[in-house]
Amino acid sequence: MRIGVLTSGGDSPGMNAAIRAVVRAALSNGDKVFGVSDGYRGLVEGRFKEFTRSDVSEILNRGGTILGTARLPEFKYEAVRQLAVKQLQKNDIEALICIGGDGTYAGALALHHMGIKTIGIPGTIDNDIASSDYTIGFSTALNTACDAIDKLKDTSSSHQRCSIIEVMGRHCGDLALYSGLCTGAEYIFTNETGLDKEKLLKDLKENRLAGRRHAIVVISENMTDVYQLAKEVEDYSGYECRATVLGYVQRGGTPTPEDRLLAARLGGFAVDLLKQGVSGVCVGVIDNELRSTPIEEALNMKNIPSEELHNLVQKLK
Ligand code: F6P
Repeated sequence: MRIGVLTSGGDSPGMNAAIRAVVRAALSNGDKVFGVSDGYRGLVEGRFKEFTRSDVSEILNRGGTILGTARLPEFKYEAVRQLAVKQLQKNDIEALICIGGDGTYAGALALHHMGIKTIGIPGTIDNDIASSDYTIGFSTALNTACDAIDKLKDTSSSHQRCSIIEVMGRHCGDLALYSGLCTGAEYIFTNETGLDKEKLLKDLKENRLAGRRHAIVVISENMTDVYQLAKEVEDYSGYECRATVLGYVQRGGTPTPEDRLLAARLGGFAVDLLKQGVSGVCVGVIDNELRSTPIEEALNMKNIPSEELHNLVQKLK
């Protein structure tokens, strides 16, 4: 079989480990593998390169993606996808493994409906693909966020400040919830919890009056202007307050062993499924077992925030 592999959407640490796993697993089956540059953009433009075993040497521990990635909103148009299908046909590539988040999955599903065999692998720091307990990149981004919050805690406790830290996650609160819990944040706000600003200000004021030296607030992106919030905290609570947006640093870095392991398992599994003639599904690990889910179903699955973890935040703060 001739298999294409691409990475699309926001990059995530561990994508390279997934590419390596796909390439090596496919080659060991006697298949040929073609790397597609820059996601669906490169697919439409026919930018393919046949990969050998050594092309994916020394990438296991590298962040980013050696294939490059892009967001191509135009891929939702059938005419654009037809160009991609033509490029695949011209190169006799009958199957495609697409590594990325839900936008990537939507593209893979559309191609599946157009007769290309596709498999999705969850690669995103957001952990917002419900058909897998964890996505490739989440563990590394969580490590990065925890390291940064620990450091911010050092300085905010020295200065008796409140520190507000915005983390990524798009619409999913997992990065905020997990990083906040792992660093002992007093407050964690996500799309799932919402932000009750008045209550926060009142609480912080009471804490300050009770003599608490510092406070850590972790908040998901896209919820509020954290710099403005810091100003309001400072005006109202008695704490000096600083806001930090962690931003794109969360997308880079050497993948953790957890992300490498997940990438290896899912890459190998995706190749196995193609060999069995499966298409239109995405792979994941649920309760430590490899699972495949129809992409259509996966795209409609809701991320259920962990009630247990949210309750713990309240108890441990
Ligand atoms: O999906 C990964 C992610 O980093 C989100 O957390 C964030 O909202 C978004 O991508 C940023 O996208 P871009 O790289 O297009 O600015």
